[in-house]
Order: sequence, then structure tokens, then C-alpha cells
Amino acid sequence: MTNIKVPSLDLKTQYKSIKPEIDAAIARVLDSCQFVLGSEVAGFEQEFAAYCGAAECIALNSGTSALHLALLAVGVGPGDEVITVPFTFVASVAAVVYTGARPVLVDIDPRSFTMDPAAIEAAITPRTKAILPVHLYGQPADMDPIMKVARRHGLVVIEDAAQAHGAKYKGRAVGSIGDMACFSFYPGKNLGAYGEGGAVTTSNAEYARTVRMLRDWGQDRKYHHVLRGFNYRMEAFQGAILRVKLRHLERWTEARRAIVGKYNQLLAGSGVERPTEMPWARHVYQLYTLRTDHRDTMQEALQKQGIQTGIHYGVPVHLQPAYANLGYRRLALPQSEKAAAEVLSLPLYPEMTNDQVETVSQALTGLTAAR
Ligand SMILES: Cc1ncc(COP(=O)(O)O)c(C=O)c1O
Repeated sequence: MTNIKVPSLDLKTQYKSIKPEIDAAIARVLDSCQFVLGSEVAGFEQEFAAYCGAAECIALNSGTSALHLALLAVGVGPGDEVITVPFTFVASVAAVVYTGARPVLVDIDPRSFTMDPAAIEAAITPRTKAILPVHLYGQPADMDPIMKVARRHGLVVIEDAAQAHGAKYKGRAVGSIGDMACFSFYPGKNLGAYGEGGAVTTSNAEYARTVRMLRDWGQDRKYHHVLRGFNYRMEAFQGAILRVKLRHLERWTEARRAIVGKYNQLLAGSGVERPTEMPWARHVYQLYTLRTDHRDTMQEALQKQGIQTGIHYGVPVHLQPAYANLGYRRLALPQSEKAAAEVLSLPLYPEMTNDQVETVSQALTGLTAAR
């Protein structure tokens, strides 16, 4: 094994930078002995709703739960169809399957890596209930045309914002654009808990009420179950930690964007296709994902030099064995399949040093020059 010179992620350095605040938050929860939901989670809900410009936030135990409950809240179920993309983390599609509905997959735009709005109309049938665009890597999907086609057909829009805390579309925060939005606070996300976490944001009071009930066994009051709900509650430790981290998020996002600026500059002329921040976007770069025809050899060569990279995602969901029964064949969604073969995510986290960014860029430029 080569020594790791640049990891793809470094949660420890970040923890050290905010240790006193985090430790105090954890101590507060221990003192309160209120371990599930409670005032820390309620406080986080208010603060995150305000951050997203949404009326409400419902804190949950994962981003997957957020997608599941958002879909249930709008009544998606067996016999329905939900339009989403195959070039995403599997949860976007899996959550639709959880409800008994059928995921209908449309291709992505190759520059933004997000849903191609022009592909939606042809995928709509009388069974379609919702559209679920994914703000992949931290870049918002092109929401105006998506909302327009949804409104024309009476469909609900649920944003998968799991990777996009703080991203903006034409100046508007994700989480406040669709009818509902779903976030993940998995530790490696831009706003990451120290365990599992997720949330739904919405400005629709009825959806909020339903999601709130569904996360806690469908109760409208204690032991009175009006809906068939779940145990999808957020733990108090995660709420308290997320409140601390939310206060630093904008600074961390700006640090990510500065690192991306440096990567973009150093990788100009390197032969790889650098990520594009679309004209509508404030991209928050959960990932810095480039494209290259030589992805696998490049990853291997970087690994040998101690540089960790990631592939997000190497097999689109429609070609995953678990989703073969959706009935999509190879080449059915060509842009997604091409992206899956070409993408490579470089190390990126707010605490990355200039030296680390230069080390990665030089290694990569050296590889392409030697080709
Ligand atoms: C695009 C996307 N959707 C949904 C999820 C699911 O979130 P979680 O892992 O918190 O369940 C993730 C998490 O990786 C994701 O990246």
C-alpha cells in the first residue's frame, strides 16, 4: 500500500477545527438526557429551514428516509410513476421503489450531470405523479424548465438535494424551489452529521405535517396512529452537531469554491474536462468531478502516488443488477452511461491546503503529459 498523501476526504481535521463547539454540544445533549428529537433537533430544524428559505424542515435519520417520506407525503404509491435520473446515488431510485411506484428514468445533460429537462415531456404518462431531479455533486438541476413542465402536467417536484446544501439556482437556495426537497447529512456531505441524518424542507404546511407524522409512527398525538408511519426520527446528538456545523457551512462552501478555482486554473490544458458551473448555478462542489477517457488508468496511477480519488458513480442505476427488472437496456440512457465511464472525483474538502491542491494537480498534469 502506498502512503496516502492526499485523502479524498479529511473529517478529522475539520473536527479538530471546531472541537470545543462540538464537544460542548455533545455535553449539552448528555446533560439533557433528551436523546431523540427534542429541543436540539427542533432548533436545527428552524435554523436549517431559514438557511434554505423554506417555511419548514423536518429532521430525519437519513437522506433516504427523506426521499421515502417526501414521496409518501404526496401520495406516491403502487401504480404510480416517478421521473428521475439513473446517474445518481442509488437511493434516489430506491426510494421510489420503496413506495411501490415505478421509477421512470430520463437521461442527464452531459455538462451539468443533472436531469435533462428536454427529456421529461416524453417520459410523462397518465400514471406520472412526481419529478425527482437530483442536484448532483452540489450543482442544482435546471429547475425553471423542470418546474414549468411539472406545473403544465400537474406533477409534484421533489428535489434530491442530498449533495447540495447551500447551492443556489438563479439566486434561490435549493430546498425552496420544488414542492419539497430532501437532504442527507451523511458524514462526508457538505453539512455532515457524526452519524446518519437527513431532512425534508418544504413550504407546504400539509406536506410538512404529513412528513412529521410519518417519521414518528404516523402519530398525531402519543399512541394515536392516523398514518402507517416509521421510526425515521433524528437523534439529538446529530441535531446538536448539525447546529454547530451549520454555523460554519458558508465559510466551508467558500473554501471549497476557492479550491475548485485553483484546481480549474492548474488543470487548464491538462486534457481532462473540468466540471462546469452552469450559468444558473451556485455550485457547492460536494465533489470535484472531471471527465476523461482514461479514467481507470488515471485513478490507478494517482493511487500509486498516494492520491485518493472516487468514482461517483461507475454504474448508472438502470444497469445495476438490483434494478435490472426496471427493464432498461445498455445504451438506453447514453449520456448517463458515458458519464459513468468517464467521471473521476478528485480530493476536495474545505481544509485542503494549497500544497495538497498543487500535489494533486501536478500529479494529474504529469500523467496527461506523459500520455
Ligand atoms: C444524491 C443522493 N441521494 C440520496 C442519498 C441518500 O442519503 P443517505 O445516505 O443519508 O440515506 C445520497 C447519499 O449519499 C445521495 O448522494
